[in-house]
Amino acid sequence: MNKRRTDFWKKEHERGQEADERKRGERVGEYRGAAAGDPAGRQAADSGRAAPILEVDNLSLEAADSGAPLVDGVRFSLGRGESLGLVGESGSGKSLTLRAVLGLLPPGVRRAGGEIRQSGRAAMVFQDPRSALDPLCPVVKQVAEVVRYRQKKNRKAARAEALHLLDQLGLPDSLGQEDRYPHQLSGGQCQRIVIALALACRPDVLLCDEPTTALDVTVQRQIVDLLSRLQAELGFALVFVTHNLAVAAEMCSRIAVMQRGRIVEEGPAEDVLTRPRNPYTQMLVDAVLPLPASAGESGGASSDREKEARDEHQFID
Ligand SMILES: Nc1ncnc2c1ncn2[C@@H]1O[C@H](COP(=O)(O)OP(=O)(O)OP(=O)(O)O)[C@@H](O)[C@H]1O
Ligand SMILES: [Mg+2]
Repeated sequence: MNKRRTDFWKKEHERGQEADERKRGERVGEYRGAAAGDPAGRQAADSGRAAPILEVDNLSLEAADSGAPLVDGVRFSLGRGESLGLVGESGSGKSLTLRAVLGLLPPGVRRAGGEIRQSGRAAMVFQDPRSALDPLCPVVKQVAEVVRYRQKKNRKAARAEALHLLDQLGLPDSLGQEDRYPHQLSGGQCQRIVIALALACRPDVLLCDEPTTALDVTVQRQIVDLLSRLQAELGFALVFVTHNLAVAAEMCSRIAVMQRGRIVEEGPAEDVLTRPRNPYTQMLVDAVLPLPASAGESGGASSDREKEARDEHQFID
């Protein structure tokens, strides 16, 4: 990998580490999740010795009709408050792995082997927010129903909790006075509602399947920041599927790379992205396009023109 790109990932990773440090430092409020009575787990996470809250052990999935392998011997484990980025090519088995953890395999796919052990509750943020919402039910009502069912609250308390969640997620206050249907909200707002639905389950493990792919970059940034902040506040473990390596580096301390149903490389985000051992990981890292300004530094076709422009700019300054 060339130096420029290595520096880019180093910078990305340092920012991620800073965020992780912040998370650890900020995790002062009481964990509000279902396993709130588990101080040992929290202490373990805070001291960096997180007891596994989720263990995926040699998971194999296959097509029910042909027996073709779809996920093959996948294993990883996650402690409370930890985050794992799952990256890799389309069709490599990322979504199926998440669905297996949730116990929601689609028709046509069956477990061929392996074990999934979890000591808490998992919830999932699906990729396409609009299809994850009920189009015929106003959104506050949808969130309140999940709160009512999952947290065993009465109707009034559930609505108040739903509004509190939506407020935490930066959704407009006006939803409290006038509830709205999903089609009356923007894509980013719908994604926040889907995150609210997952958080209403008080998850110990949050599974995010490309939650930002369909969003424009500014909303993407907001959702990534939001999830980081909520993870620091609520202490859930996170599995984050994405095609965006920079997002994975920012959100996750560890990264696992999947190809054709297998994890081909797994390790600390910095190691995986700056010193990839697997050729496929190397290819993914090399495929990231640098920004034009930094491309100029290494001498692209337009480097002279860009350098001139920069020199001129410096001169004018
Ligand atoms: N319901 C299904 N029945 C049969 N095969 C399936 C089913 N769902 C997924 N598959 C196959 O399983 C493999 C893994 O699919 P999966 O959806 O997990 O990929 P992915 O890594 O999430 O891809 P993407 O990045 O495109 O979302 C693919 O080859 C896919 O065609
Ligand atoms: Mg997928």
